[in-house]
Amino acid sequence: MKLVVFILLITTTMAVPYLSSIQTWLASFQQPLKSLIDNPLRRSTIPQFILDARHPWILANQRKLERLPNAEAFLCSNPDSDSKEETEKEPQTCTTELEIPSDIFDNLEIDNNRAGISRPGWPNALERLGEMKRCQRALNQVKTLEVDIFVHREKYSAQYLKILEHFETPEALLTLFGDVLESMTNLETLKWKIPKEYTHSFEEAFTARNLSLPSIKHLEPGPSSHYLVSMCPNLERLENGGGFMWYHGYMPDGRDWAMMLIQAATSTPKLKRFAMVGGHDGWTPERISEVVKCIPQIESLGLLGSLGRWHDYTGYDTGDSGKLKVALEILSELQNLTHLDLGPSSDLDRGFDGGPGCGNAYFGKGGRKYLRQVTRQGAEATEKGGNIVVETLPRLKSFTIGGTKANVTRVEDKMVNATWPWTGRMDEWLMEVVPERSELWDVEYDRM
Ligand SMILES: *[C@@H]1O[C@H](CO)[C@@H](O)[C@H](O)[C@H]1NC(C)=O
Ligand SMILES: *[C@@H]1O[C@H](CO)[C@@H](O)[C@H](O)[C@H]1NC(C)=O
Ligand SMILES: *[C@@H]1O[C@H](CO)[C@@H](O)[C@H](O)[C@H]1NC(C)=O
Ligand SMILES: *[C@@H]1O[C@H](CO)[C@@H](O)[C@H](O)[C@H]1NC(C)=O
Repeated sequence: MKLVVFILLITTTMAVPYLSSIQTWLASFQQPLKSLIDNPLRRSTIPQFILDARHPWILANQRKLERLPNAEAFLCSNPDSDSKEETEKEPQTCTTELEIPSDIFDNLEIDNNRAGISRPGWPNALERLGEMKRCQRALNQVKTLEVDIFVHREKYSAQYLKILEHFETPEALLTLFGDVLESMTNLETLKWKIPKEYTHSFEEAFTARNLSLPSIKHLEPGPSSHYLVSMCPNLERLENGGGFMWYHGYMPDGRDWAMMLIQAATSTPKLKRFAMVGGHDGWTPERISEVVKCIPQIESLGLLGSLGRWHDYTGYDTGDSGKLKVALEILSELQNLTHLDLGPSSDLDRGFDGGPGCGNAYFGKGGRKYLRQVTRQGAEATEKGGNIVVETLPRLKSFTIGGTKANVTRVEDKMVNATWPWTGRMDEWLMEVVPERSELWDVEYDRM
C-alpha cells in the first residue's frame, strides 16, 4: 500500500520535471525504491558492479564474502598499497580461505540492458560508476569495460523503470564517466553503447576536459560515438559497436555515422584493424574509397554486412552484380592489407540471396533436403566469391567469407588458391551440417 502511494506521488511530481529541486528530491528516493524492486529481500554487501561482472570466483564465494565484516574493503583495497593493513585485520580464517584471483576485475560492465537486469539506465550507470570510483583495485586492474545503457523512455518500458529514469543525461554522470575512465590506467578495450540520441553530451563533456585514454588499444563505439577515436591516441583496433543499433534509424540531421567512423580513424596512426558493418546502405564504393583514403596503413579489414543495400529473398539467382569485384579493386590500393573479412555469400551480391530467412520453409516433408539445397548454393557462392578475392587481392595472407576461413595456398608471396571445408566433398559436408535426423533448431543456419 505504502509503495503504491509513493509511486503515485512520484508520477504526479514527474509532471513538472524542470524543477531541479524536485529532481534532487526524487533522486534521493531512487536508491531505496530501486533496491526494493530490484532485490526485495536484501542487498548484497558486495558492490553491485562486482556482482554484475559475474566472475566465477565471486559467484562461487559470494556467501562467504558477504559474511566478511567489510566485503567491499576486502575486495577493493589495492594489493600493493598501505590499505592492505585493513585486509589483514580480517579474521584469519576468511583471508586465508579467500585468495582473490588476479583477474576478478579484468572485465567490467555498466549494463542495464542484458537478460536478468531491469534497472533504469542513467541511475544504474551513476551507481555503478560511483562504486567503481571507490574501488581502487578495480580501477587499476580493469582491462575491458563494456558500457551498454538503455534509456527507459520507450513505449514498451515497464512503468516503474520509466518513473526511475532520468529525462536527460545527468550532468554528474558526464563528469563521473570522465573521472573513472581516466583512472582506468590499464584499460585496453572499451565497448561503448550509448544511444545515439544521447551520446553527443558525452562528446561535449569529454572534449571539454581533453579526455585522453592512452592505454586503450581496442575500441567499439556505437552509432555517432566516433568522437572517442581521437581520444585514444594508441588505438590499434577499431570496430563498430552498438549491436543492432548500428542498423536502426538515422540521425535527426541525416549524418551518416558509418562514414563518420571511417573519417574519425584518420586520427589514429597506429590503427592496424578496422571492421564495420555497412548498416543501412551497406558498403558502397564511396565508403570503401573513404577507407582507402583515411586509413591507408590498415593491415586487417572487415567489410561486414552487405555490399550495397540488403535484398529480400526472391527465390531467383539474380546473377553476379559485380559489386564484389568493384569493392575488391578499390581495396587493392591498400599496400599493407594482409587480412580481409567479408560478410556471408548472400551479402556479396553475387546472385545467391541466402534462401528464405523464415524457418517454416525448412519444416515438414522435404524440409531437410531443401535446407541442404540452400546451404549448397551458399557454399558454392562463397567459393565463387573466394575465387574473385584470390584473383583481385593476391597479396592477402588470409581471408574469411561469412566467418569461414579460406584455406589459402600461396606461391611466392601470392595467393593462388583458396579451398573450403566442403571443397571436393560437398555431399559429405552437407550431411554433416544438415544431418538427416536432428531437429531443425539444432542446426546453426545463420544467414546474418
Ligand atoms: C584542453 O586543451 C586545450 C588546448 O590544448 C587547452 O586550451 C585547454 O585549456 C584544455 N582544457 C582543459 C580542461 O585542460
Ligand atoms: C606499410 O608498411 C610499411 C612498413 O611498415 C610502412 O613503411 C608504410 O608506410 C606502410 N604504408 C602505408 C600506406 O601506410
Ligand atoms: C588446406 O589445404 C591443404 C592443401 O590443399 C591441405 O593439405 C590441408 O589439409 C587443408 N587444411 C584445412 C584445414 O582444410
Ligand atoms: C586449387 O584447388 C583445387 C581444388 O582443391 C585443386 O584441384 C587445384 O590443383 C588447386 N590449384 C593450385 C594451384 O593449388
